[in-house]
Amino acid sequence: MRVVTTLAELRQVRGSLPSPLGLVPTMGALHAGHAALVRRARDENGSVGVSIFVNPSQFAPSEDLSRYPRPLEADLSLLSDLSADLVWTPTGEEMYPAGFQTWVDVDEVSRPLEGSRRPGHFRGVATVVAKLLNAFSPDRVYFGQKDAQQVAVIRAMVRDLAFPLDLVVVPTVREEDGLALSSRNVYLSPPQRRQATALFRALSAARSDHDAGTRSAAALRGRMLNVLASETGAVVDYVSIADPVTLQELETVADGALLSLAVRFGETRLIDNILLEKGIWSTGTRPATGRAA
Ligand code: PAJ
Repeated sequence: MRVVTTLAELRQVRGSLPSPLGLVPTMGALHAGHAALVRRARDENGSVGVSIFVNPSQFAPSEDLSRYPRPLEADLSLLSDLSADLVWTPTGEEMYPAGFQTWVDVDEVSRPLEGSRRPGHFRGVATVVAKLLNAFSPDRVYFGQKDAQQVAVIRAMVRDLAFPLDLVVVPTVREEDGLALSSRNVYLSPPQRRQATALFRALSAARSDHDAGTRSAAALRGRMLNVLASETGAVVDYVSIADPVTLQELETVADGALLSLAVRFGETRLIDNILLEKGIWSTGTRPATGRAA
């Protein structure tokens, strides 16, 4: 496994790797969710590239950029165990050189949900992902269903800017009790960690109601809110039932819908989602139940 810092080194090593190349973009602090993406990329490609870059432009000033975990040695050891070929750990200056002024703004799909709570977040994500795609020129790029709006934003960008690659979405990896793995889970106190199962319980309750015939999005949103209200520590940011491509809120749940929510426990904000029925992103197992470990 080669670990490189500069773009020049990256391009040189990339040129010698067997095709096709699968790329897994990350911010490090790798866990079994990231590992599922790397394994999938390993299965489907001749070589695997991974980027580790805590991207400042996708954090608001009030957010957790400075305290974001950066366990580089452990990350590299995991990636080596997973047989990644090439890891890029660019510096901030390499990614955003002096005079940097070109941004990728994916318009409508960046606006609701996470976009409205985290202004500028998806502009930062789309810009850094566009740079990573240009740097690696991968044949496939891998993203987690865990960040459903990020997938929708990158899907639109790849289409609109005609990046010549396939976007692969990997099911959310969960703890035994349903909590989606996240680098932010380490911030939860033991009581908050127990309360945090409410996210998946709320999604699962709405899915059961849907399976039993409920088609009113308002009723399903109400069901999620009810489950969350039973946890004293949970402060709901939003619950949503939306079209998985446009992210527009639905009134009636028809042919596949994205159930998503954001909930705060103290300072820590968690997100989760499931797709109802077979959505356009799910390949094979339903994301909500797929354990891709
Ligand atoms: P990061 O939060 O490190 O996540 C990297 C990838 O891992 C994302 O595609 C994310 O959806 C996926 N992932 C995280 N938790 C997961 C889980 N429990 N199951 C499956 N996949 C999971 O997302 C980012 O970094 C950044 O925004 C990035 C795309 C790298 C741009 O900076």
